[in-house]
Amino acid sequence: MAPKLQAPRGTYDVLPEQAAPRLALETIARRVLEGAGYERIETPVFEATDLFARGVGASTDIVQKEMFSFTDRGERSLTLRPEGTASVCRAFMEHGMHMLPLPAKLWYFGPFFRDERAQAGRFKQFWQIGAETIGSDDPAVDAESICLLHTILTAIGVEGVELRLGSLGTPETRAAYREELVAYLRAHEAELSEEVVARIELNPLRAFDADHEGTRKVMAGAPILMDALAPEDLAHFEEVRARLDAAGVAYRLDPTLVRGLDYYARTLFEFTSDVLGAQSAVGGGGRYDGLIEQLGGKATPACGWAAGVERMLLSAEHRPQPHEVCDLYVAGTGVAAFGLAAEARRAGLNVQLELAGRSRKGQYKQAARLKAGHIALVEDDGTVALEDTVAGTTEAVESAAAAVAHILKGRHL
Ligand code: HAM
Repeated sequence: MAPKLQAPRGTYDVLPEQAAPRLALETIARRVLEGAGYERIETPVFEATDLFARGVGASTDIVQKEMFSFTDRGERSLTLRPEGTASVCRAFMEHGMHMLPLPAKLWYFGPFFRDERAQAGRFKQFWQIGAETIGSDDPAVDAESICLLHTILTAIGVEGVELRLGSLGTPETRAAYREELVAYLRAHEAELSEEVVARIELNPLRAFDADHEGTRKVMAGAPILMDALAPEDLAHFEEVRARLDAAGVAYRLDPTLVRGLDYYARTLFEFTSDVLGAQSAVGGGGRYDGLIEQLGGKATPACGWAAGVERMLLSAEHRPQPHEVCDLYVAGTGVAAFGLAAEARRAGLNVQLELAGRSRKGQYKQAARLKAGHIALVEDDGTVALEDTVAGTTEAVESAAAAVAHILKGRHL
């Protein structure tokens, strides 16, 4: 027997009952972001591999281990996009968007791909909503984009949300701090766990996450990056914090916050949900002032975030449900019924037609299931009995046009 066909591990089908909350989520995000002046951008699902190697950072886990890359027939290396920021920056440069009034405010919704070990809340194909603001270094941009994500998470009903906030300063500050931290760890090697010692050079920041008792004691006295910030970076961070306070958005300062992408500078943030377990990050982002220049463009400050659609839905107890209205259910299977349905749809009504050969009784049951506002019982001779299911009244109408007019009239009452 041929093996059973299944969706690949780490991917999933969106079945009709799951499509509704996803649509509601997209609608909420669109309303919040477009209401604040963001415009939708769509970039290709695959890009030149080099974009991500240069954009996300050659030494990151994403580029080293998680990219789905392939070679096309012209021997070009392409990659299914693992994230959206590098692509949006590429599009910004390619289409000369720096000529537009700045900052450009762009948002996106689409699938992304990372070859990670699949587990609850972690997929190989997942969806993100993202927002990027390009062309301003104003701290109000950082604060506003954090507030917008906060508004979206609240409107969706994501539970147990915490905002963690930090600042990375410039790459130079970070390099100097790294040396200081490595020296501190070396001086305390005897008290640290073997694992931390083995990774001192590779990733000294990870020591802050260790559970090992001795390591934790050492780390309580370790130097922190926020204390090493240059005065202008510190001032920027203070301004971001003042605006978050003014907006009533609570946060926890996290001097050890690290994210898996290399392009960040200054503000860094992550929203977590305590109902998610190990994969607790619902969304995150930060400022990436050096990225466009690194990709070959003119130095352009920017800031943004992305949030995982699956994780937002997993952590929202009452998933948002759009209520799609059925204005009219057409009972009857003849051509007259079909004609009435077509005419009502042209008039803008949401119409469902009997397609399963149900008995008259079955048709009425189906109309009730759909919560149809009206039922048109169309006989083969074209006569129509129109029932208003809300008012509980039925009247004979002489034509399809009259039925449509009747429903439309009721709608505007
Ligand atoms: P990220 O933190 O890598 O940032 O991803 C953002 C969100 O996508 C995560 O918080 C998580 O909810 C979701 N996510 C990531 N990987 C997976 C996965 N394998 N399965 C399910 N969900 C996942 C970025 O992608 C940056 N581009 C954000 C950004 C925009 N920074 C500045 N602008």
